[in-house]
Amino acid sequence: MPALTTSSDGFLLGDEPFRIISGAMHYFRIHPEQWADRLRKARLMGLNTVETYVPWNLHQPDPGSALALDGILDLPRYLELARAEGLHVLLRPGPYVCAEWDGGGLPAWLTSDPDIRLRSNDPRFTNAVDRYLDLLVPPLLPHMAASGGPVIAVQVENEYGAYGDDTSYLKHLERALRSRGVEELLFTCDQANREHLMAGSLPGVLATGTFGSRVDQSLGQLRAHQGEGPLMCSEFWIGWFDHWGEPHHVRDAADAATDLERLLAAGASVNIYMFHGGTNFGFTNGANHDHAYSATVTSYDYDAPLTECGDPGPKYHAFREVIARHSPVPDEPVPAAGAKLPPTTVVLDRRAALLPHVGALAEAVRTDAPVTMDELGQRAGYVLYRTTVPAAGDGLLHFTGGVGDRAQVFVDGAPAGVLERERHEETLPVRMPRPGATLDVLVENMGGVNYGPRIGAPKGLLGPVTFNGTALYGWDCHPLPLDDPGAVPLAPTGTDTDAGPAFHHGTFEVDTPADAFLSLPGWVKGQAWINGFHLGRYWNRGPQRALYVPAPLLRSGTNGLVLLELHGTTGHRVLLTDTPDLGFEKS
Ligand code: GLA
Repeated sequence: MPALTTSSDGFLLGDEPFRIISGAMHYFRIHPEQWADRLRKARLMGLNTVETYVPWNLHQPDPGSALALDGILDLPRYLELARAEGLHVLLRPGPYVCAEWDGGGLPAWLTSDPDIRLRSNDPRFTNAVDRYLDLLVPPLLPHMAASGGPVIAVQVENEYGAYGDDTSYLKHLERALRSRGVEELLFTCDQANREHLMAGSLPGVLATGTFGSRVDQSLGQLRAHQGEGPLMCSEFWIGWFDHWGEPHHVRDAADAATDLERLLAAGASVNIYMFHGGTNFGFTNGANHDHAYSATVTSYDYDAPLTECGDPGPKYHAFREVIARHSPVPDEPVPAAGAKLPPTTVVLDRRAALLPHVGALAEAVRTDAPVTMDELGQRAGYVLYRTTVPAAGDGLLHFTGGVGDRAQVFVDGAPAGVLERERHEETLPVRMPRPGATLDVLVENMGGVNYGPRIGAPKGLLGPVTFNGTALYGWDCHPLPLDDPGAVPLAPTGTDTDAGPAFHHGTFEVDTPADAFLSLPGWVKGQAWINGFHLGRYWNRGPQRALYVPAPLLRSGTNGLVLLELHGTTGHRVLLTDTPDLGFEKS
């Protein structure tokens, strides 16, 4: 018997009427040593439930691998911590999650078969989903409410009505969960309009809506679609995410609080998206591709009640007041902001150029024409493509099919230009100084599209490359997932003068570990690691100007910082500051 059921106009938990007041918080975007703190702050704001997606691609990086359930992926531990805090959990296991997450959570290895029809009843897709659920569900069953755990409801797919209308696929997912022992309430979520709700919902499964404003109209659409049962806003958007090169989104706390009040006054249940956004660490950010490709930044702060570093922001206080008018809020002090590291300068005094040392990082795969990152079996990071160009002189390089997603071109080691998918660039004028010059093309996967028909689009070089119309053959393709950026031999800065992308290394002393923000004035674009942990991307294009460094990554004593800078720097210093900088704002 599931703990959570529906009545004609609401939820019942056991026999008691129950209203879900939930907040979204993705364990995989939060350092695991901070999970308990964030969950406590969720309860203290007045939430009775937290919601999380499950990112399939992170849990199952290879089709044959066991499910990763350790460290930041230890979902059973996260669920246990939620239970200990007295919180219920809404679980959204996908298989597709959107969430501004690389590929919407769908593993890149699915599209090694380019004809696979994702998010459909194509057996190539559903068989892979079934294997994933075979691995995922058993360790989660003890955490379901039926077994005394915190999970009271499980979502089927995610906003499916915005993508397709293959009801047999949704039915497959429903059966797949039930047949593996999930007894809890199932629900779908869709943007609150008639078409999406029709295409994305399933008879017998609770339909819920996603929206951030126009509360009365949206609840009306939901009620028109589903004549009775609880009204639930399964994603109440109180902020938004940012793309590189666009303003930072903020939403006024009072405005969001007014809409929350409308929702709760209407008797609806809610999942605040996000309560705490966290960070797209490493290569995990997603991207959108509507008219043009646009990658999501490293921070997933989302202008949420709890900021990226876990401090209560203006919405925390405003929402707590609203919630208190409708449901009991713990009579405990509101949490204070966490400690920050005193401002610290880090000097990067050793470096290694990437192009001459690429062999230390990756063995080349020799091909006639360049192959995609996907064909190399690589999930994320960079590929360095190297060939020689027989002809000399001025001419046009043409990357037929374009680049996925940003390519830096070098001739005999000297920078020759950049092409960006975002700007639909496919050609570059270059001068070949001699017959047989070396052409290097360093291509960055800036994040897999997570929404719409381009999910699963390939990365790397996407077709043959020509110089003045003649195809270039004979390529060394170096996969650079950068799992171990420390593999290149470093030399003191100044002794290694090769131009172009380079690793930079520095150390710094910490007295007492505390949260910090890595600010990189004078640096252009690249990746940052602290003590071996991959913080993520930086880019002076903004809006984000500083990367969050969670306190648990630091240790008392000597700490190490590595940057991969793709272009160059005006200095050899970076700063650990005590203030976030998410950039210029858009309201
Ligand atoms: C939709 C998706 C979420 C997220 C939001 C935007 O509602 O379901 O995963 O992508 O949009 O942040």
